[in-house]
Formats: sequence, C-alpha cells, structure tokens
Amino acid sequence: MSSLETIEQIADGGEDVLQRVVDVLHDEVEHYSWVGIYLVEGDDLVLGPWRGPQATEHVRIPVGQGVCGAAAARGETEIVDDVNADPRYLACFASTRSEIVVPIAHDGRVVGEIDIDSDRPAAFGDEDRELLERVAVLLGPFCH
Ligand code: SME
Repeated sequence: MSSLETIEQIADGGEDVLQRVVDVLHDEVEHYSWVGIYLVEGDDLVLGPWRGPQATEHVRIPVGQGVCGAAAARGETEIVDDVNADPRYLACFASTRSEIVVPIAHDGRVVGEIDIDSDRPAAFGDEDRELLERVAVLLGPFCH
C-alpha cells in the first residue's frame, strides 16, 4: 500500500488521526527527518503531534514569522531548498538542510500546517508537494 493509501485509511476514522498520519509520513518516507503538525490558535501556530529524533523549541510561532508562519499567512506551500540561505528560517535542528511547509485549510481558512524538515539539501520536489497537499486536504476536518 502506498503512503497516501495508508493515510486515506487513517483519515477514514478512529483515534489520534493527526499523530498516526505524522508517524506514517516520518516512518515511510526516508527523507522526512522530522514531521510535525502545527495548529492555528488565534494569531499563532501551536505545535501538535510530531515525530522525529528531537523536540523543537518552536512550539508556538506567530503567523507571519519563520517559514511556517509565511506558509500560514499566504496559504501556500513553501519549499526551502537551503534553510541556511533563507532569512525567514527559524532554526530547530542543526542537521536540517531543507524544509517543506504545507498549509491545511478547512472551510476556506488555514487551520494548520504540515511541517517537514530534511537532513538532505533540496530534498523536496513536486512529488512531495503533491503527496502532502493531498494529505493536507484529508486532515482539514481534524484540525479545527
Ligand atoms: N523551521 C521552521 C520552524 C519549525 S521547526 O522546523 C520544527 C520555520 O522556519 O518556521
């Protein structure tokens, strides 16, 4: 079964949907080093379920700050090929080289986002964007 099919089954119902989806993405896609979901609370993004080798200190990020805040403010996926060259980047892990942030929308507004760090430079391309934007649609109902 593909990761997307597994995630479609998880989103069909049951407990801990967000954590289970984070776990599948982290465990099944080799270049996803750290996977987390932030949820919108007022003007902030608050860290929800995550999976990776280390916790991040960025558990609350104002919308508009960092790569995460930029994606939420624009409602568009952000792909950063080299985090060290992006002035918006809020550093979490010394090993991170590239990042993708995909907003999760529900009823026409951004309610959360999927944030993935990779230890590989320029790890994220169209396939990741397509997979994660489909996953974001499935997760919308679980993020409000
Ligand atoms: N790098 C993010 C912050 C979150 S950590 O990657 C988990 C950013 O620039 O917004």
